[in-house]
Amino acid sequence: MREIVDRLRQERNLPRAQMRDLLLCEDAAALEYLYAQARAVREEAYGKDVYIRALVEFTNYCKNDCLYCGIRRSNHRAQRYRLSQEDILACAQKGYALGFRTVVLQGGEDPHFTDARLCAIVRGIRALLPDVAITLSVGERTEESYRALFAAGANRYLLRHETANAAHYAQLHPAELSLEHRMGCLKALKAIGFQTGCGFMVGSPGQTMETLLDDLAFTAALNPEMVGLGPFIPHADTPFAAQPPGTVEQTLKLLSIVRLMLPRVLLPATTALATLDPMGCEKGMLAGANVVMPNLTPPGAREKYQLYDGKSVSGSEDADALEELRARMRAIGYQIVTDRGDYRPAP
Ligand code: 5AD
Repeated sequence: MREIVDRLRQERNLPRAQMRDLLLCEDAAALEYLYAQARAVREEAYGKDVYIRALVEFTNYCKNDCLYCGIRRSNHRAQRYRLSQEDILACAQKGYALGFRTVVLQGGEDPHFTDARLCAIVRGIRALLPDVAITLSVGERTEESYRALFAAGANRYLLRHETANAAHYAQLHPAELSLEHRMGCLKALKAIGFQTGCGFMVGSPGQTMETLLDDLAFTAALNPEMVGLGPFIPHADTPFAAQPPGTVEQTLKLLSIVRLMLPRVLLPATTALATLDPMGCEKGMLAGANVVMPNLTPPGAREKYQLYDGKSVSGSEDADALEELRARMRAIGYQIVTDRGDYRPAP
């Protein structure tokens, strides 16, 4: 297994059969070796720095009906909210004062946020805080819309592909959504110049070794600047309520593999991972992650952005919570930095 890990590090990929062996590996010493290689590669590019992103979940209205997601349109038990432009700018400013230099605006696919409204928000943040990176995570839009948002001053865009296997995609999504369209969006975002993120859930219903291998192959081919990867966690008011969650171990393994495939990728230890394991953030870092996204959504709204059960409603909106996170990262030898944390291409 160590030879396979060494080969993955050297060649940044593996033949499918060897990648399958690695995904199936449960040997603790081999996995520790995998994590150690991933950390070494992360440290070559980014040292011990941990980048933080101020996550603002600004709307939980969504026109989509993804089967796994708690804010799907047919969940009538979700209490819907959207933040005003003033609320969003206030969150961004608060984050800036705390040392955040990236603001992530994440939301459901809410038709209220037309290009005009969303561009006005992006321009508002850009005018107020000229040196922050602005990341959008607002789903599938037209290429024209993506261009307008980029021109307004957005820098990065997160759009998880969810699964790179078309049949599996159809198990997770309603008929009107397709993998083909999603991939078209990702390609458009990259071509426009966004630092672009794809990603997938670990352990989503219907996921198999083969679909995961497809995810890794797709991720390698897209060569994104960011990858979002966390365990699937069921939500009680969705068709997947009774499905088992993904595991922490498989998520850590995939974080390490992605780090070795894409040495410079910006890779968060996700909220979902921290939801399954109180030490999830630390474990993610020690498996090759280099980003954390503390939740700065104002209380009152935050409890309503429930993509899955058990999602933390505590956040880093205050200095104390951020100080605690700093201490936790220091305890494992890493340091949170005040930095935009842009993708660093290989020299
Ligand atoms: N469990 C884990 N992650 C989820 N997401 C949506 N629903 C769930 C769930 N039940 C993830 C999706 C989406 C991101 C914003 O949250 O991958 O892209």
